[in-house]
Amino acid sequence: MIPYKTIIKIDRAGKQSVYIQLTNQFIDLIKERILPPRTKLPGSRTLADLIGLHRKTVIACYEELTLQGWIESIPKKGTFVHKDIPILQQQKWTKKAANKKDDKAGFTFKQNPILDRKFPQDYAEDYMYVNDGVSDERLTPIKELSIIYRKIANKKRTIKYMNYGTTYGNPELRETLVCYLNETRGLNITKDNILITRGSQMGMFLASQLLVENQDYIIVGETNYSSSDTTFEYANAKLLRVKVDENGLNTHDIEKLCKKYNIKAVYTTPHHHHPTTVTLCAKRRMHLLNLAKTYCFAILEDDYDYDFHYNHAPILPLASHDTCGNVIYVGSICKTVAPVFRVGYLIAPKTFVDECARLRRFVDRQGDAILELTFSNFIKEGSLDRHIKKVIKIYKARRDLFCKLLKEELSDYLSFEIPKGGMALWVTLNKKYSWDTVTEIAKQHKLIISEWQRYDVANTKHNAIRIGFSCYNDIEAREFVKRFKKTMQGIDIKESFS
Ligand SMILES: Cc1ncc(COP(=O)(O)O)c(C=O)c1O
Repeated sequence: MIPYKTIIKIDRAGKQSVYIQLTNQFIDLIKERILPPRTKLPGSRTLADLIGLHRKTVIACYEELTLQGWIESIPKKGTFVHKDIPILQQQKWTKKAANKKDDKAGFTFKQNPILDRKFPQDYAEDYMYVNDGVSDERLTPIKELSIIYRKIANKKRTIKYMNYGTTYGNPELRETLVCYLNETRGLNITKDNILITRGSQMGMFLASQLLVENQDYIIVGETNYSSSDTTFEYANAKLLRVKVDENGLNTHDIEKLCKKYNIKAVYTTPHHHHPTTVTLCAKRRMHLLNLAKTYCFAILEDDYDYDFHYNHAPILPLASHDTCGNVIYVGSICKTVAPVFRVGYLIAPKTFVDECARLRRFVDRQGDAILELTFSNFIKEGSLDRHIKKVIKIYKARRDLFCKLLKEELSDYLSFEIPKGGMALWVTLNKKYSWDTVTEIAKQHKLIISEWQRYDVANTKHNAIRIGFSCYNDIEAREFVKRFKKTMQGIDIKESFS
């Protein structure tokens, strides 16, 4: 008989119940063939005495092992390791094995270089990161949201949403958003025009999968949100680029391209062009809508930061002027409240929404109904509006301070325009410097600039990147600028040139 007493180790202070610990250890012994098939196991009383456990615990363990098919009980003979346990060439889990980098799959699969993206490395807590323009997570109305969430989850009538539901998203949130978006964005939509998504990105993905057939053309800006480029290229689109100036996308360039190519869609972030932050002027908005009508293309309007405009009221989206069904409008609460809440929407003509809902079913059967209901109530109670009012004030003050500090401390090295809205600045380095060098030296001052190249998708060498300001309070903004200044002072210009 194997020495059960020495082999089996029970941790009575452990989190796992004793019978589960015992079961798992038996499974290991069987898998490792220390207990080969057909081995007779001791009776429950004997084993309990041997290892100092209650007999009921051993019985529970044997029952579990029997249920899982590891052992079998043969009447009048006893309990045996199951005769049909296959030999698994199993590698024992070790910390070392889990960490190995060349963890190769035992099968082939498609790997598309288009999706290549370096993930930012994690540094110690005292490092600061240059970000793209993100909300300050400390301002998330978590208390309010959790009260609503708890209330909803406890309501009897919520039970019906626990099951599989519609692919279009929670019906109550759809209704709430129809009113909210019609009121705040001048849209004219009904419930048929809205699909709840897990964020703007999902809307863009679904739309591009449906729009693009092999090698169709999509027009984007010469500077553009790099993830949208990836989304379209992954859908097999060919990108054509137009210039972007202080009035946004150049629509005359778009018209020229329409005359030459069969254009499927134009992607735009008209409220604040990503990455340069400029607003598409009214004349170009109307021009673009007319072009879409004439040349029958879709305008994919990504209104990722509609709520943040500091100098005047937000500018109504293109979707609010669309009378011919050309605009697909995507947005979310991910920037407004916090990126962790994956709740967004895609607004489009019904037929397109229906097809998006069909496709979405196979990626994500449905959204998170309870979270969606929470946001429905959050909006209906006026809490979203209150939250926006509160953070706009804070972000405006942060923009003003950040711009002032950069102007005072760093104008020898860089330039920028004060953005009218959004959460980031578009900062151009003086020609003497390169982001490559700045990135290297900044690291020495615990300032991390990751993947600055994503801001120059067309490789025009404009020497600018986005720097988010909204997540820094006074102290952090000053610290950021201090580290940036030290970085610039530490750069040997000759070296930066070479
Ligand atoms: C321009 C732009 N569009 C879309 C997204 C994605 O937003 P969401 O979190 O709603 O998917 C982002 C996120 O950073 C963005 O900057």
